[in-house]
This record gives sequence, C-alpha cells and structure tokens, in this order.
Amino acid sequence: MLKVAGVDAFYGQIQALKGIDLEVEEGSIVTILGANGAGKSTTMKVISGLLKPKKGKVTFLGKDITGLRPDQLIRKGIALVPEGRAMLAEMTVLENLEMGAYHRKDSEVDKDIAQVMERFSILKERKDQLAGTMSGGQQQMLAIARALLARPKLLLLDEPSMGLAPIIVADIFKMIKEINQSGTTVLLVEQNAKQALKIADYGYVLETGKLTTEANAKDLLEDTSIAEAYLGG
Ligand SMILES: Nc1ncnc2c1ncn2[C@@H]1O[C@H](COP(=O)(O)OP(=O)(O)OP(=O)(O)O)[C@@H](O)[C@H]1O
Ligand SMILES: [Mg+2]
Repeated sequence: MLKVAGVDAFYGQIQALKGIDLEVEEGSIVTILGANGAGKSTTMKVISGLLKPKKGKVTFLGKDITGLRPDQLIRKGIALVPEGRAMLAEMTVLENLEMGAYHRKDSEVDKDIAQVMERFSILKERKDQLAGTMSGGQQQMLAIARALLARPKLLLLDEPSMGLAPIIVADIFKMIKEINQSGTTVLLVEQNAKQALKIADYGYVLETGKLTTEANAKDLLEDTSIAEAYLGG
C-alpha cells in the first residue's frame, strides 16, 4: 500500500532522515520504534506531506505521492494523528469531529460522526465540552476519532500513548487494534515498544535517521538485543 524508498529529509542543514526504505502492506499494522530524536516523527511528516523529502520517493496505492501537500494526501486516504494530539482546544468535541471531515463532500458525514460517537461513547457524552478541557486519554481518543472521520485508508499514529496512564494506554492500543480490524491500515510510531509490537504485524527500528532493523513484530519481540534497547530488558 505504502512504499518509502531512499528518502532523505532535512531541517535546514540538519539531516534527519538518511536513505529510509520502508513498506506498509494493506490491512496490516506496522510500527516504527526508536529512541528520542531518531527521526520517527520526521518519517511521519514526510509520509503525510508536512515535510518534503530532499531525495527519494513515496508511493501510495501504486501512485507517486512524493511532495504532495497534506490536504491532497488526506483526499487520497492518508490521515495523520500528530505527536501531542494537536487538539483544537477552544472548539468542542463535536466541532473537532466535524473538522476531521472538512474536506468531504459526501452526504455521510453526519452518519459517520454519529457512528464514531456510538463507538467511543465518552465523545458522545462530552460532545459539547471544549476539547482542551478533556483529559489526556480522552483527547487522544478524540484525536484518533477525528482522523477516522477523514475515512482514511492509511492511518498514521505518532506516539498515541505518550503521557497516558497505563490503564488508558491499554485502551488506546485496543482501539488501534479494532480500527485495524475494521479495515484501516495503520502505521504506528511508539516509544511503548512492547505494546506496539504486540499489536503490530511488522516492525522497523530507526536509529539517528537510519533504519537498522526490520522483522515480523513477533520476531522483534523475541530479539534480545531489541529487548535490551527498546523493551526495557
Ligand atoms: N523543526 C525542526 N527543526 C530542526 N530540527 C528538527 C526539527 N524537528 C526535528 N528536528 C531534528 O530532527 C531529528 C529527528 O527528530 P524527530 O522529531 O523526527 O525524532 P523522533 O524520533 O520523533 O523523536 P521523539 O521520540 O522525541 O518524538 C532530531 O535530531 C531533531 O532534533
Ligand atoms: Mg517524535
């Protein structure tokens, strides 16, 4: 579904990605693991169109999408939930959900909003609450639900469990698994490596801008060197 080939990306003079090659198969959950500053978010920015790569190619469903803007990519079916959730804090839960569908012209938006609120009942209960006053876990749920309203084929999640209590983290991972089972392909960046590998099919390890390891998620979970570096021993 997605293919990233030979991608280099820079912030000014600083090279953040060095020859990234990765693939995401349709229907799967793929995770990218790596330490702080490794380039995980930069990879997501390149795929979602927030940062143009200096070199290399990004292909989605057989078409070259390199350098397209985020609004063009969302129409093609790629939605990003950025690191830190990026809520529209001064807008209500319902308004945030409506924003997720802003580019859609079909007549099923209201139906999809109703469906998302059935699925995540807290969003229905709190539909008129300002998003910025929700708890961290509720905001993450809203951020993911908002992205789903774009009806993405590929959902990019950048550290969805960051800063959340363990019990909420478990809910978020369960939610990701369910989203995948209902047909959305997922690319997941996580520091919570163990939990990410448990729900993923395939994983990549990123170290200072380069992919150093890739394997089936199950094999990465059992790899002792990965365990020592990323899974807390
Ligand atoms: N806007 C920016 N301007 C300059 N350098 C940046 C910018 N954003 C990121 N970088 C640098 O690019 C490198 C990769 O950053 P990136 O945010 O992709 O890492 P990350 O793997 O997502 O880290 P984290 O786990 O902390 O989120 C880092 O060295 C970082 O300092
Ligand atoms: Mg990051």
